[in-house]
Order: sequence, then structure tokens, then C-alpha cells
Amino acid sequence: MKIEELRAFLTDRIRMETDFSQTDQNKGFSPPPIEKPVPRGAKTYQLPAWESAVQFETKDLIDLIAKRKSVRLFSSQSVTLEELSFLLWATQGVRERAPYAVLRHVPSAGNRHSFETYLCIRDVVSLPQGIYRYLPLSHTLVFIYTPDNLEKALNLATLGQSFVGKAPLTFVWSTIPYRMEWRYAKASHKVIAMDAGHLCQNLYLAAGAIGCGTCAIGAYHQDYMDELIQVDGKDEFVVYLAPVGQLR
Ligand SMILES: Cc1cc2nc3c(=O)[nH]c(=O)nc-3n(C[C@H](O)[C@H](O)[C@H](O)COP(=O)(O)O)c2cc1C
Repeated sequence: MKIEELRAFLTDRIRMETDFSQTDQNKGFSPPPIEKPVPRGAKTYQLPAWESAVQFETKDLIDLIAKRKSVRLFSSQSVTLEELSFLLWATQGVRERAPYAVLRHVPSAGNRHSFETYLCIRDVVSLPQGIYRYLPLSHTLVFIYTPDNLEKALNLATLGQSFVGKAPLTFVWSTIPYRMEWRYAKASHKVIAMDAGHLCQNLYLAAGAIGCGTCAIGAYHQDYMDELIQVDGKDEFVVYLAPVGQLR
């Protein structure tokens, strides 16, 4: 393909992807819910205030950015509920509930926030092992179920990256693409991928602020991961993972 043809091709694509005249939003459809409902009878856990988990001064931020790195070896220490509360606050927590929208600590294209946060909990103080989902509006966890062997399931689902299954907990982010498609149609998939980066970067920095570490995980088996958190792989599917633990 000649350079002029390539330029014309890309220009056409960008034009196609930024034509929002036919989106569901512009057709007048209501926006999809910003949070999945809690199944009837499900057990929920209100998260504690997170402030006590963080010993922080403004200048520490420079240090955190300079020292950020992927951590794949964790100490055998349990993660506390206050620490988990802080990490959830930093990655998907609600900053402000305006009449027209819910604003969070990470940016999102069109403020659409297409993600749900699941947690594979192995060793968090006061929480039984299992799979949980975060409810940002109430800063609560909802328990989903306990897999037979969480460590083995995570090991398989991350293609043998055994440090993931050994971590005290693992963040698993899924997307519900329609939340974005409602507004951005074909441009959605690009911005969902962009949004995912913000989640994980905040997790790296927030983990560093409490003496923990994490590692972005993009290599995983799509069907196994979707099955582990019990999503259908179509209207909702896993996009990113990040195990967390105290530094050794
Ligand atoms: C999108 C993405 C996917 C990644 N997937 C994996 C992964 O599956 N396994 C892993 O061990 N590290 C993974 N990483 C971490 C990178 O290997 C790591 O960021 C890189 O080696 C640089 O090291 P640093 O984060 O310590 O600077 C991923 C990072 C990103 C941004």
C-alpha cells in the first residue's frame, strides 16, 4: 500500500469511527446501569475507611512514580481490609455523585466507566476465600462464590503464571462494552483499552503507597478467566488482571 493510500485508509477509518450520529445515545435510548445489580440474598461486606492504611505525604508521590515496578513475588503476610478498601477506592472509587453522573478517581472516555472489578481473594483479613465483586456506589463487596481450588484455577487461567495464584488477592477487571457503545459505537473498543490503563496505573501507585506491589497481567486464557468470575464472555468479559500482595 502506498503512503497516500494508507493515509486515505486511515482517514476513512477515523471518520467512520467518529461518526456518532447513529449511537444509541443519539437515538434517545436510556444509558445502561453503571453498576450490576446485587443478586437476591447475596452476602455483602461494607468496606472500612481506608485512611489508616496510608502513611502519605505529598512528596511521596514523586518517589512512588520513580520507583514503580512490576512485582511478582509477595510476602506471606495477609492484606488487611483497610488496605483493600484503599486499593478499590483508588482504582474504581467514586469521587463525586453529581446529579447527571458519577465521577471516579480514574478518568474514562465520556465518563462511561465500562469496567466491573472482581477480586479473587485468597488471603485478606476477615474475608473468606472466594470471588467477590466491588460495588463502587456503596463501597461494598458482594461475595459471589468459592471455587474448588482458587490457586489452581488462577494458575491455569493465567497460562501457568503461578505467582498470580499465590498472591493474597488478584484484581480482575471485566468490561461491559455496551456501556461504552451506547455513546461511542465503533470507537468504543479503542477507548475501553485506553481506560484499562488508568485502572492499572492507579493500582500500581496506590499499592506502592501502602507497601504492596502488583503486576499488570495481559496474558491469560479468555474463556477460563471469564468462567472463573462467571461472566458470559460476550456482554461482559475480562480485559486485565493484577495480583497484589505485600512486598517481601
Ligand atoms: C498491558 C500489559 C500486559 C502485561 N502482561 C503481563 C503478564 O501477563 N505477565 C507478566 O509477568 N507481566 C506482564 N506485564 C508487565 C510487564 O512485563 C512489565 O510492565 C514490563 O516488563 C516492565 O517492567 P516494570 O513494570 O517493572 O517497569 C504487562 C504489562 C502491561 C502494561
